[in-house]
Amino acid sequence: MLAVLDAISHADDTRPVTAQASAQVNACNDAPCLAPLHLPGLQLQGLHLPSLHLPGLPALDPVVLAPMSGITDKPFRRMARRFGAGLLVTEMVASAALLREIKDSRKLKDCVDDESPISVQLAGIEAETMGEAAKVAIDRGADMVDVNFGCPAKKVTAKASGSALMRDEPRAIAILEAVARAAQQAAPGLPVSVKMRLGWDESCHNAAYLARVAEDLGFAMVVVHGRTRCQFYKGQADWRAVAQVRKAVKLPVLVNGDISDPSTARQALQQSGAAGVMLGRAAEGRPWLIRQVADDLTGRAVQAEPSWDEKRAAVEVFMAEMLEHYGTASGLRNARKHLAWFAHGLPDAAEFRRQVMKADDLAGIESCLQRFFQAPEQQAEQQAELQPQQLPQQLPVQRAKAA
Ligand SMILES: Cc1cc2nc3c(=O)[nH]c(=O)nc-3n(C[C@H](O)[C@H](O)[C@H](O)COP(=O)(O)O)c2cc1C
Repeated sequence: MLAVLDAISHADDTRPVTAQASAQVNACNDAPCLAPLHLPGLQLQGLHLPSLHLPGLPALDPVVLAPMSGITDKPFRRMARRFGAGLLVTEMVASAALLREIKDSRKLKDCVDDESPISVQLAGIEAETMGEAAKVAIDRGADMVDVNFGCPAKKVTAKASGSALMRDEPRAIAILEAVARAAQQAAPGLPVSVKMRLGWDESCHNAAYLARVAEDLGFAMVVVHGRTRCQFYKGQADWRAVAQVRKAVKLPVLVNGDISDPSTARQALQQSGAAGVMLGRAAEGRPWLIRQVADDLTGRAVQAEPSWDEKRAAVEVFMAEMLEHYGTASGLRNARKHLAWFAHGLPDAAEFRRQVMKADDLAGIESCLQRFFQAPEQQAEQQAELQPQQLPQQLPVQRAKAA
């Protein structure tokens, strides 16, 4: 580790980089306040972002679906891919569990068979375990491995994992080293990335420092969520602060946090100078958004929003895959939040949500989808045929018949 630390060029980070010093910076209190970065003017309009080029992978869209535990599972990722998403990332997989083939290893089950290009995200605190888990993930077909330094959840940080690693730099560096080495041994040239927050708290923005360590170790990409861990999801992501990371390294940096459409993606890129964006919550119930933002940023014709009919067909396939992946009871339970999100903008969303909560098998869900996800034009036609005074009595009758 010493050699690596010594080799890092600290262009504008004056902290010493010996192992002893790295223990000192552990508390992060002496993190320098970096000067604001002035990027050569990226234009909001007319910005055409090039593809991402990572070793051994085809050219990728510079828009990536964020890993979200409990959300971006295999069925959701597959749906996003059917709508044109490029690189996929698994939910975080606990490295220790992966090695013991328990619980979390299900997340990896079959995840890489037909999802290429896919990155497997690993979480953990033991460098050796993380390295071994990286080998297992690669052995199962991962095209890329991602290290989680970003998760703020208490149950994760309480075990000193996820974003808690950002306040334990020696451990974080040992993990980066172990994963880089393991990946190099298992599949020379396979890209490895790290996903971070800006730092632990406002007094400790050390993402740029850790990104430089990662770059020196041969990492291929860094993703930065523009918040500290202590911010959780409060306030607004600071895309300008991500520019400090982008300035510190030559490898591609993806900016993440609060990107919800092409316009916010452009603002985030303009303020950070990043090579691409990663977006998460905005894609809940809208897996087509990844492709739409990528189309816009790369100058392609933007794919239209799917019609309600197309959404219904997509959700039916998704539901069948959820039940196959988790079994009926867990599949239905895990799918409910997705169904609620898919209903966003539906004329009768509240009633749809009430009905699907009651459905206890796939046929019940499909029946709800058939009834509620009718093309808006069809609904408009039906409503136009009804006299205004008939609406309250007739609409429930129509539904009852359809059921
Ligand atoms: C429910 C949920 C689960 C998440 N799980 C993970 C995870 O497994 N790994 C990770 O690196 N980040 C995880 N995140 C963080 C997201 O990847 C992302 O960094 C964050 O949501 C900010 O991006 P957004 O504003 O586009 O959602 C999760 C976020 C949410 C909301």
